[in-house]
Amino acid sequence: MVEPMFDQYGRHIHYLRISLTDACNLRCVYCMPEHITFRRREELLNDEEILRLVRIFASLGVDKIRLTGGEPTIRPRLVELVRQIKQVPGIRDLAMTTNGLLLPELAFPLKQAGLDRVNISIDTLNPEKFHAITRWGRLEDVWAGINAAEAAGLTPIKLNCVVTRGFNEGDVVDLARLTLEHPWEVRFIELMPFGGVAEFAQSAVVTSDETRARIEAALGPLEEVPGYDLRDPARPYRLPGAKGRLGFIDTISNPFCEGCGRIRLTADGKLRLCLLRDKEVDLLTPMREGADDEAMKEIIVRAVWEKPWGHGLAKKVIPQLRVMSQIGG
Ligand code: 5AD
Ligand code: SF4
Repeated sequence: MVEPMFDQYGRHIHYLRISLTDACNLRCVYCMPEHITFRRREELLNDEEILRLVRIFASLGVDKIRLTGGEPTIRPRLVELVRQIKQVPGIRDLAMTTNGLLLPELAFPLKQAGLDRVNISIDTLNPEKFHAITRWGRLEDVWAGINAAEAAGLTPIKLNCVVTRGFNEGDVVDLARLTLEHPWEVRFIELMPFGGVAEFAQSAVVTSDETRARIEAALGPLEEVPGYDLRDPARPYRLPGAKGRLGFIDTISNPFCEGCGRIRLTADGKLRLCLLRDKEVDLLTPMREGADDEAMKEIIVRAVWEKPWGHGLAKKVIPQLRVMSQIGG
């Protein structure tokens, strides 16, 4: 018996994002400070704990899961974990957000294990700028990852571009142009502030309106794609005649909280109720203290009811507890 979860505002909560690790093989400037200490393994959920929680969430109507990080592909035994998650009854959609670096080796095994698709982060097509944003990454490695994902059928492929003033605001045109030839969705994300990188992030926001105008000035008018699903944060557009589409995620200038059915599980076992609010409920401790499934369900249902309505960025309420890599986007 599935008992669907709702919050006090009537939103149906059915989409769980699981951060598999807070560590990463890159250090994007807007995501992590250069020097950051990652959590020790004992502090993180182990595979069995993740699976137990996935089964509990599935019994509460979660049907869609996204694996994130840090960088999820650096977690040991990832392929086996994906296989087991996908086998949990009720999980119909399993996706992953990755920087793509390890996809040349992992795309096929992940697809075979049941992963449906991937979102790959790529903020520019300029190798020097890519290196500057990620602090040491090589663009060609991401490109190889995108090709591997496509060959393995991890589709439809979505590419995520965080637009950061001073780094890549002009590179959006080249990224948008990719959709002319490829059936991909290129998504432009407004930069979000988190404690640790907040000051930088606030001064470097580029709104989706500005990005859209820049793309239109270079490539012509965009068409809105009809049938926009309120639950999808990306508002869809298309370049005339393009094979793929563009998406704009206006977290800052045009929040999409009314359609939000998401909750997040951090790598250290906290249920994070809103990406941009520090409110979290600890699941790891009660689990390790022996709480049974019914008790865990009760903790989760009660927490979900309290999911905050929206973020407080306009009132300068900035999440302080964690940076993006510790939440998973
Ligand atoms: N604002 C917006 N997006 C971010 N990401 C990481 N940090 C931020 C931020 N401060 C994005 C990454 C990746 C996804 C995991 O989250 O680029 O696409
Ligand atoms: Fe790593 Fe992604 Fe953060 Fe970049 S944005 S440092 S790739 S987790």
